[in-house]
This record gives sequence, structure tokens and C-alpha cells, in this order.
Amino acid sequence: MSWLLWIIFISLGPLSLGLWHRFRAGSFFGRRCGKAPNVDMTGKVVLVTGGARGIGKQTALAIKQMNANVAVLDIGFNDMEKLAFVEDTGLEYFECDLSSQRSIENFVRQFTFKHKKLDVLCNNAGIVYSGGLNTKVTEDGFSRVIGINFLGPFLLTQLLATLLLASPCGRVVNVASHQHENGTIDFENLQSFNLMDPLPYANSKLCLVLMAKKLNRILTAYQQKGEALAVHPGAVYSTIHKNTPAIFKIFFVPFAWLFFRSTMEGAQTSIFACTYPDEQRRLGGTYMEHLQVSTSKNPLSNDEELQDRLWVAALDLCFKGNSKEKCNFTRLLSAH
Ligand SMILES: NC(=O)c1ccc[n+]([C@@H]2O[C@H](COP(=O)([O-])OP(=O)(O)OC[C@H]3O[C@@H](n4cnc5c(N)ncnc54)[C@H](OP(=O)(O)O)[C@@H]3O)[C@@H](O)[C@H]2O)c1
Repeated sequence: MSWLLWIIFISLGPLSLGLWHRFRAGSFFGRRCGKAPNVDMTGKVVLVTGGARGIGKQTALAIKQMNANVAVLDIGFNDMEKLAFVEDTGLEYFECDLSSQRSIENFVRQFTFKHKKLDVLCNNAGIVYSGGLNTKVTEDGFSRVIGINFLGPFLLTQLLATLLLASPCGRVVNVASHQHENGTIDFENLQSFNLMDPLPYANSKLCLVLMAKKLNRILTAYQQKGEALAVHPGAVYSTIHKNTPAIFKIFFVPFAWLFFRSTMEGAQTSIFACTYPDEQRRLGGTYMEHLQVSTSKNPLSNDEELQDRLWVAALDLCFKGNSKEKCNFTRLLSAH
């Protein structure tokens, strides 16, 4: 019996610290961050992927409250919670599965029919695990983590290039993660990564950072008004770990609930990155966290040769070698 009392006694300390952090001091591991300032976004068209749940939902809602015309792309609007959210808030919403190139192309057709420009694209949707080993593949033959986290958003961004370039200052915000610091790129196996690789999530997030930096360089090289950057939301208590093994969830979920940021707190850096005024154009090409420009500890993220190589490899994978036939940034800008 005494061992039980000891366990209770030892657990009380961290539990009270956790409760104090959750209800009084804010998140601990996620570090408290400030609030993105309110900006008048009247007239701007903003698209948030994965915008019906979690960090994306809070991002879409906050930007809508700044008077922007916000559209949400997400999977599974048969989920009542998601449907109620978009309908109650009056957000425009599109069903699209970022793991499917066909679905992305369909979405772009619908979106282009309704909108003549896109001011901000927030590539927020992402998964951590695909529900099992990294062996599940998308219908296009990519591993699900790389397909949903990077190749889907990459294709989406390329196909929306015309609309982004039609905006006076089109902006792309990639929601990455500090996990990108553990990432590497294996060009021999880019579409599926190594099935034994323990870090497909980190690799996919590194790809998003590299993509933002490369896109920003392209826009700058063509003296194009517009920019691209990557953000880390902090450690956030959301549903992103739903596919993790149950044994992991038993420990992780209560811990995350106590110590991590709320989705509202986690959305602040994305909101800031999507809404800071165009005339302050000095954040393009950066990596931001806690509402500030940050320095990535992964030297690969600033390697321009790697950024160029990844860009070309991703174009090849997404357009199956027919990149010239489709719209993409480099082609559109060279035609200017
Ligand atoms: N939470 C964190 O601690 C954390 C830390 C660093 C970075 N991030 C990044 O922040 C972003 C948002 O994460 P979150 O925590 O808000 O996750 P979340 O709560 O799981 O929300 C992600 C949203 O994206 C949707 N989605 C998933 N697969 C999709 C697909 N194939 N096509 C279209 N939409 C899809 C999800 O739909 P379903 O829920 O129906 O699957 C959900 O609505 C992610 O990119 C994540 O990697 C999160």
C-alpha cells in the first residue's frame, strides 16, 4: 500500500505544475507566445489548408475576423464538427484530399472558377503518422507523410501560381515544424523515403522549409512582389496525434494537454505570417516561431543548392516530367 501512496505523492508535484501551467501560466513546452496583431485584411483572399480543425481552424477564424475572404480546404466534411464550424462561421470551404493529385487538380479548378486572385496561401494541413509503419502509400505512389505534408502542398502551390501572381503581393506560408531540424533529404527515394526511416515527418517538414526559401528566391529574382516563408507553431495540443499507437497516447495525451499550447496559441505565428502588412516585406524567406524570425539549427535548410535540387525533383514527381505543360512559378515568371 505504501508504494501506492508514494506514486500518488510523487505524481502530485508534476500534476499540480501541469495544472498551474495549463490554467494560469499558459503552455510550458510550447512556450507562451504573444498574440498576432489585428490587421485590416479587407479585400484579401486567403486559403488555409487543413483549416477546419486544429491550428488551421484558429488561423482561418482569426483571419476571417480581420475581414478577409477566407476559404478553407480540408478533408472529410462529413465530420459534423468540421461542417458545423465552416457553416457557423460562413467560411467558404472545399473538400480536397492533399494526398491525391487528382483531388488537388479538381480543387484548383473549382477555386479558380470562383476567384481571380489569391493573396495568401497557408499550407497548414499535415499529419504526423499515417497510422502504422511508413508503408502506406497515396494513390500517386508516395508515402502518405511526404505526400500530404510536402508533395500535395507543393503541387497545390504550383497550380495556384497564376492566382498568387495575380495578387499585388501573393504570399505563401508553409506550416513546418521545429522537427525539420532533424530532417534530411534522400533524393534516391524522395517520394517514399526509406520505409524504415524513423523521421519521415521531420524530412517532410524540412522539405517545406526548403520549398518556402526557394519560392521566395524565385519571386525575388523576378522582382516579383510576393513572398514565401515557413513557420513553426510550437508544441500544440491538437488532434494531430490521433493515429499514433494507443500505448504512446496514454502517456502523451495527458502530458500534451497539461503542458502544450492550445490551438489558439499555436495559430498565432501562422496568423502573424499570413497577415503582417505587405509594406513590411522583410520576412520573406525566413523561418518563424514564437511570432519572431528564428534561426534553423539544421544547416541544410539554408543550402541553396539543395533547395534548387528539391524544387526540380518535386516538379518532376508532381508533373511526371510534364512540368512545362502545366502552370508553375518558374514558367509563368519567365514568360513575363
Ligand atoms: N500540433 C503540433 O504540436 C504541431 C507542431 C508543429 C507543427 N505542426 C503542424 O501544424 C499543422 C497543423 O497541425 P494541427 O496540430 O492543427 O493538426 P490537426 O489538428 O490534425 O489538423 C490538421 C487538419 O488537416 C486535415 N488533413 C489531414 N490530412 C489531410 C489531407 N490529406 N488533405 C486535406 N486535409 C487534411 C485534418 O483532417 P482530419 O483531422 O479529418 O484528418 C485536420 O483538419 C500541421 O502541418 C502540423 O504538422 C503541429
